[in-house]
Amino acid sequence: MDRSAAAPGALEGSDIGSQKDRVVTEEEWLQKWEMGNIGFHKEQGHPLLQKYLNVLLNGRSELRIFFPLCGKAVEMKWLVDMGHSVVGVEVSEQALREFFAEHSLPYHEEPVPEISGAKKFQSTSGNVSLYCCSIYDLSSYVSLMITLMEKNSSYLLVTVSYDPNKHKGPPFYVPESEIKSLFGNHCEIKCLQKVDDFSDRHRQWGLDYFLEVLYVLKFVA
Ligand SMILES: C[S@@+](CC[C@H](N)C(=O)[O-])C[C@H]1O[C@@H](n2cnc3c(N)ncnc32)[C@H](O)[C@@H]1O
Repeated sequence: MDRSAAAPGALEGSDIGSQKDRVVTEEEWLQKWEMGNIGFHKEQGHPLLQKYLNVLLNGRSELRIFFPLCGKAVEMKWLVDMGHSVVGVEVSEQALREFFAEHSLPYHEEPVPEISGAKKFQSTSGNVSLYCCSIYDLSSYVSLMITLMEKNSSYLLVTVSYDPNKHKGPPFYVPESEIKSLFGNHCEIKCLQKVDDFSDRHRQWGLDYFLEVLYVLKFVA
């Protein structure tokens, strides 16, 4: 069943209201991992990625796929099992160790000389390379993504949409206007689907709708 939905009263434009200056610090993320407070991790993988994987892969094999903010995303294992290789970046060393342990993948670790304090965790097979550092140590997120994209390459990006005046985040509301202003100069942007993901958790936050919004960004220039 298609759970696509138009949010009643969904906010338009860049009205991110009270979330404007909110950030989750690296310390807070590390704490979430330590406390096992990882409701964002989907043990079965993300259904939208499963559904739209072909949009990303487009029939191609043996790709090298980048997972920014990868946590211990199980989708990395799916893709490796399909013959692709993955490169991830994640600030929590615990998350990366859990990834390798939960999939029984042997790995080794080494420092990354170019980035102070950073480590690279690589599977013995060589097809999983996960960097433990802040993505901002690499570069700013959008410019990094743009430099990684070859012409015509695709990037699946999922955001969430809800009334940010009712919940301070995380996760943070990202309006389409923000995606356009960040990526619009380099990418064609298409919204693939809006999925109603509303649950009791969101009701407890004081929300009355919660959507996941999936975009495909195609790098054109
Ligand atoms: C929404 S979670 C994604 C989790 C992942 N999909 C999974 O299934 O485990 C965002 C992840 O980004 C990491 N993170 C947050 N800020 C970061 C940064 N500046 N650099 C690298 N990783 C970061 C967090 O530790 C967290 O694991």
